[in-house]
Amino acid sequence: MKGIILAAGKGTRLYPITKPVCKPLLPVYDKPMIYYPLSVLMEAGIRDILVITPPDDTKPFIDLLGDGSQLGVSIQYREQKVQRGIADAFLIAEDFIGGDSVCLALGDNIFYGPFFRRKLRQAGRQAEGAVIFGYYVADPRAFGVVEFDADGRAVSIEEKPRYPKSNYIVPGLYFYDSRVVEIAKKIKPSARGELEITSVNEEYLKDADLHVIPLGKEFTWFDAGNPDSLYEAAGQIRAAQRSGRMIGCLEEIAWHNGWIEKEQFLEIARSMEKTDYGQYLASLGEDI
Ligand code: G1P
Repeated sequence: MKGIILAAGKGTRLYPITKPVCKPLLPVYDKPMIYYPLSVLMEAGIRDILVITPPDDTKPFIDLLGDGSQLGVSIQYREQKVQRGIADAFLIAEDFIGGDSVCLALGDNIFYGPFFRRKLRQAGRQAEGAVIFGYYVADPRAFGVVEFDADGRAVSIEEKPRYPKSNYIVPGLYFYDSRVVEIAKKIKPSARGELEITSVNEEYLKDADLHVIPLGKEFTWFDAGNPDSLYEAAGQIRAAQRSGRMIGCLEEIAWHNGWIEKEQFLEIARSMEKTDYGQYLASLGEDI
């Protein structure tokens, strides 16, 4: 399975912060935002990753993540020249996907919660169709919204509905079989001029091939795309980490997955020894 991080948004809802720095590189407490979606792909066991960046802005991403070898993964980069919506990612990445299945993570979505790794692996094992998640929020109007029947099956999915049919939004993490590229070619731009990911999901729903995994209240999800959610995400991650577990720690996942050697892991820990992040890695290293 291939992985894509769509990190190409201009971040206009965060102006002026995002005038000189693009959104996925902003800090969310102690690490850049893109660490969180990257950690999710790595937890899912995905090692072949494409990061889609804004035009002429790939360099800072390369400065941060390089080719991924330090994490035991392969990271490539490609620009989205024109903002044409989330589903455009599959057109940009057609040759990268190359007939494989694919997981798309949005660059500003942050997830954590118990047994997430298990849910991700479950989603990745689904051989055919699409797997998305459903997350309860009080006001779902700004998101994709999925409606269920009494048996928990998805019956409708709508993008930013004025009158939502449920409180379950579809967060920015999607697993698809290889058909997704052809589906993305077929869908038409929405009223806001974008190739909507919800239109892709609707196509899978029509084929009775859309599977929705609910994420319960014990789960935390943020779309950190505006000042309030960015601030809140930082505060919650700080609080969660105070209780001892690091969120979005790429080296820990790489180590746990058996993708990097002990010496490589310790080297990274040493290079960041002045920070809590580096000290956390060093403390894990003591047990290795
Ligand atoms: C996008 C999707 C929406 C999804 C949301 C998650 O919204 O279109 O379906 O629920 O991401 O963050 P946008 O960021 O384009 O407003």
